[in-house]
Amino acid sequence: MATWASREAFAQTPSAVVMRPGKLAPLTGAVSRVSGANTMEKITTYTDASSYNNFYEFGTDKSDPAKYAHTLQTKPWTVEIEGLVKKPGRFDLDALLKLSPMEERIYRLRCVEGWSMVIPWVGYSLAELIKRVEPLGSAKYVEFITQADPKTMPGVRSRVLDWPYVEGLRMDEAMHPLTLLSFGMYGEVLPNQNGAPVRLVVPWKYGFKSAKSLVKIRFVEKQPINSWGRSAPQEYGFYSNVNPTVNHPRWSQATERRIGEDGLFAKKRKTLMFNGYEAQVGQLYAGMDLSKLY
Ligand code: MTE
Repeated sequence: MATWASREAFAQTPSAVVMRPGKLAPLTGAVSRVSGANTMEKITTYTDASSYNNFYEFGTDKSDPAKYAHTLQTKPWTVEIEGLVKKPGRFDLDALLKLSPMEERIYRLRCVEGWSMVIPWVGYSLAELIKRVEPLGSAKYVEFITQADPKTMPGVRSRVLDWPYVEGLRMDEAMHPLTLLSFGMYGEVLPNQNGAPVRLVVPWKYGFKSAKSLVKIRFVEKQPINSWGRSAPQEYGFYSNVNPTVNHPRWSQATERRIGEDGLFAKKRKTLMFNGYEAQVGQLYAGMDLSKLY
């Protein structure tokens, strides 16, 4: 199978010409062989994916991250591994980049706010890193802690969320091959506004689970409290699996607006269970009441 660039070049629809943006250093990956990792849906333009963002450390407006994230200091960068593991320690970015071969994964991204995109990420399964640090049997969850520097991230000076931005996954979710540690998109390193230099991408969950600019990964016994869950527990659960049948208390989750398709007459898309990854991840939630464990 071709990579996204060549696939786009061969695509029949005239609007589907997407090219490597040529803005940042190249970072390419082999086409992933992980089941579900290569949607054939039309890829969102780089311009949309890098200018319509949620990254509250740089402001709450969708255009704020692209405007202000240039101040983010990504060099040097280390990710600390701590908690219930045999091999805690620090990885600098170069070590992480070399830890496993890069793959390209084309994932749907569904934000809890009701919009979606299709983004070609570059990275490898988080499981590759987890295996190397050897979690103890008592490690049941993984907590992700992100950069929070008030000097370089203007939003951190505001009280809109408790900083740092924290997310969490159950161990089996973190080990699932679709859970991606991402360093790039569109064949280049991540732009700052998309979570440079390293972020999480969990395609079957609402976008806020995909924490940007990771600095710490902690293995813990108890379910972590994530930032959005802390700020509004009745609205944002720990699991946050994309689910068209469980509405947000203030809006429906049955449909979504695909960014780039939003003309006056554009029809909304139906949101898919687990964002279309049910075949791959549905069994992780067998027997759970997803209306309660939202
Ligand atoms: N990570 C951090 N550190 N801060 C944030 O505000 N926003 C989340 C998630 N990761 C966020 C974050 C939300 S709500 C979404 S929808 C996605 O990032 C958006 O990712 P994108 O801008 O790359 O599309």
